[in-house]
Amino acid sequence: MIPTAAPGPTPDPASIAAAARLLEAGELVAFPTETVYGLGADAENPDAVRRIYRAKQRPENHPLIVHLAPEADVGYWSSAVGPAAQKLMAAFWPGPLTLILARAAHIPDTVAGGQQSIGLRCPSHPVAQALLQSFKAGRGGIAAPSANRFGHVSPTTASHVHDEFRDSPLLTCILDGGQSTVGIESTILDLSRGRPVLLRPGQVSAAQIAACIGELPSLPDATAPRASGTMESHYAPQAPVAALPAAQLAAVIAQLAARGHRLALMEYSGSINTGCAAITCHVRLPADPAGYAHDLYATLRQLDQPGIDLILIESPAIADAWRAVNDRLGRAAHGSTAVLANLLATPTS
Ligand code: TXA
Ligand code: MG
Repeated sequence: MIPTAAPGPTPDPASIAAAARLLEAGELVAFPTETVYGLGADAENPDAVRRIYRAKQRPENHPLIVHLAPEADVGYWSSAVGPAAQKLMAAFWPGPLTLILARAAHIPDTVAGGQQSIGLRCPSHPVAQALLQSFKAGRGGIAAPSANRFGHVSPTTASHVHDEFRDSPLLTCILDGGQSTVGIESTILDLSRGRPVLLRPGQVSAAQIAACIGELPSLPDATAPRASGTMESHYAPQAPVAALPAAQLAAVIAQLAARGHRLALMEYSGSINTGCAAITCHVRLPADPAGYAHDLYATLRQLDQPGIDLILIESPAIADAWRAVNDRLGRAAHGSTAVLANLLATPTS
């Protein structure tokens, strides 16, 4: 069993101090942020950072985000903090925006997965902030990917983290800060390669970034660094996932039901007939992008039950406001065309 501490969104000073001392001693601590829970280690301790990769079973060339306290000296971490970065930090920190900047020479490359750049973010969650303020008296950086095994759905509660790492001796402490309010990972903007590039969409939109720096970020090209959250297949439950527009769902549900398959359904419009016996689990999400993002990962976990042949998702509109949600759904449902074809090839029962 992994001991958890400090339940709820308000930091408990004793648990925060204990967790900060564990980090200083090179241990791993899972902690809440407003986006998702992170699996933290001292960013300047390569052995501790290697433990993150081991615990997550993540390739060591995938760089990690370093979390900083609001008062941190960003110039300590990056050798080039230009005017665009300054403006974005002033506008969106603390909050769900990660900036990729040129890495300062003395920052170990283990945390950057060998990149010359470094990902930096200042989270707004009060427990994360209290931890960052206590850790190395606010002058350290906590490297933290999302606290899930590589490729799995990101955790938005302490119990999700527990479910991911219950068998791992490497995680000794989980700080419980309640449910993450944003629910999907931060926007990642690369400012280290001349023009701004949006590596991962999130709650801070491309339009908000453009309004702040006067330039719309471009999409990653082939030279963009490899980033786990940007891989085609990611954020995926164990059961296969297929995302389809409402207009196609009814027919597909009927065809799958006729073949005896057991289905879970996640929809948001209320327009789908859910009376079919094949649907053993059904969740209706909020119809606005922020509400949907907030519930998305918890719902995917809830629907990912043994015996479910397919999690069917009603695709949201292809619109800017839904960009981050559609990005995550696309990765969760990667390969679904083949899965669906396979299930539909089963003879009718
Ligand atoms: O919201 C979030 O960003 C959460 C919370 C815990 O802060 N963290 C998170 O970390 O999602 P992770 O490791 O699951 O995703 C971070 C992404 C990865 O895709 C990684 O490759 C990319 O950030 N990244 C980090 N540093 C980078 C760098 N120097 N260059 C390019 N990509 C980088
Ligand atoms: Mg992740």
